[in-house]
Parts: sequence; structure tokens; C-alpha cells
Amino acid sequence: MQQHSTLYTIGFSAAVCVICSLAVSSSAVILKSRQQANARLDRQRNVLLAAGLVSEGESLSRQAVRDRFQQVEPVVLDLETGEITEIDPASFDPGEASKDPAMSRPVDPNPAQVRRVPNHALVYRVLKDGDLDKVVLPVEGKGLWSTLYGFLAVGADGDTIRGLTFYQHGETPGLGGEVDNPRWKALWPGRKIHGPEGNVKIEVIKGSAGPPAEDPHHVDGLSGATITSRGVSHLVRFWTGPEGYGAYLEKIAGAEGK
Ligand SMILES: Cc1cc2nc3c(=O)[nH]c(=O)nc-3n(C[C@H](O)[C@H](O)[C@H](O)COP(=O)(O)O)c2cc1C
Repeated sequence: MQQHSTLYTIGFSAAVCVICSLAVSSSAVILKSRQQANARLDRQRNVLLAAGLVSEGESLSRQAVRDRFQQVEPVVLDLETGEITEIDPASFDPGEASKDPAMSRPVDPNPAQVRRVPNHALVYRVLKDGDLDKVVLPVEGKGLWSTLYGFLAVGADGDTIRGLTFYQHGETPGLGGEVDNPRWKALWPGRKIHGPEGNVKIEVIKGSAGPPAEDPHHVDGLSGATITSRGVSHLVRFWTGPEGYGAYLEKIAGAEGK
């Protein structure tokens, strides 16, 4: 066949397409398990960060993340009852559980703009000398431009916040993006979720709050980012409330004693 013929050009292009698509699809298949392992490691790193088991800016090797994660026990909760289920956390896919209509339920319109909650949730129990020290709970909700995804760490009393960190959002750097600022995140530990009647009272306010001992239910808003601040407030309140982990927090508070 002549190299300049139309048939040759079409045949050559088709062969290149087939070879490229084979290369892309086989690398996707070959790398899938590595991608899953990386995603798992990234989640573990973020759980450790929320739990305060990794300091801000500390870089950990893969092995160090795995080692430190030994103190963490992943469990799958029944969100409605707050009971820990027999579901194997290793095979539980939280993303699928939130999206699949058979594995989640719609919730009433709420300020955090959460539309569905999963029936089951993967949470992390952090142990210290064999006892429960804190739990790390996945949270999400709308900011100004994006949905913020993060982890909230709560003490074994089911009330004291131990940390809050976001691992994914699209808020503006320097404005809403300040949710990642270690100085702002440092304002959360020690705040209390509940008021004296057991209602969710924690709130991000516009302006400055006092220190946790004097002003336990308020956190400073981010200046120039009122909408993101409000979003964080709404999402923390939603997930610590009755549609979120309220039943579980009540259970651990009962078990550990307030
Ligand atoms: C380019 C641009 C990006 C902005 N990004 C954010 C943001 O990420 N989060 C936010 O709450 N407000 C953001 N704002 C500001 C909001 O539009 C709004 O003015 C602000 O939330 C009001 O906050 P303040 O009352 O603290 O000034 C942005 C504004 C502009 C012009």
C-alpha cells in the first residue's frame, strides 16, 4: 500500500488510536489498586491531622502514616441509632454510601445544604492506652463556591471539639480558603458542641470569640469570608445534630460519662 494513499492514512490513524486506547485503559487497570491505596493513605493522613496525631506541616512517610494509624480504629456506624455495626470498614465505600439512593436517605432542607445522609458512616475511634480518646467524623457542607469536605474530631465526652480540618474545598485562597489556616484551625479545640440543655450550640460568629474556657460555643469568623464561615458553622451544626452523628455522640457521652 502506498504511504500517501487515503487508505494508508486511515489505517495508520486507526492503528495509533487502538494502541493509545489500549495503553490508556491498561494503565488505568494496572494503576487502579495503587490509586485506591493512595486515596486510602490520603484519608488516613487527614484523619490523623484532624485527630492531632500529625502536626501541621509535619511530613510523614507512607510507613509512618500506617504506623500512627495503628491508634485509630475505623468503624461503620448506623447513623440513625448511633450503634456500631458489623459492616467491615475495609470494604465500606463512604462515597458510594452517600450517593446510592438505596444506601442513603433524603433530609429536610437545612442551612448546610446537605440533601442526603448515608444510612451508614465510616468514622474513626482514636484510642489512648486502650480507651476511647476521641472520634473523628467525616463532615461536609456548602461554603460560598464549593462543598467543603473535612473531618471533625470530638472528645470521648461527645461534646468537646478536639480538631477540625478540611481536605477538599474550592473556596478563595486568602478569604474562604483560610479554613486551612493553622491559626484559625487552632481556635477550635476545646470548644463545646452542646449547650446546657443538650442542644447543638456551637457556632462560628462574625467577629471574635473569647477563649474556649470563657466562650466555649463560639469560634471567630474569617474576615472577608462571612459566607464560608457561615457554611462551616452550618455544616458542623448539621453533622453534630440529630440528622448527623447526634445519636452516636450521645452514645459515647453516655458510655464515657460527661
Ligand atoms: C473574588 C472574590 C472571592 C471571594 N471569595 C470568598 C470566599 O471564598 N468566601 C467568602 O465567604 N466570601 C468570599 N468573597 C466575599 C463575598 O462575596 C462576601 O463579600 C463576603 O463573604 C462578605 O464577608 P464580610 O462580611 O466578612 O466582608 C469573595 C469576594 C470576591 C470578590
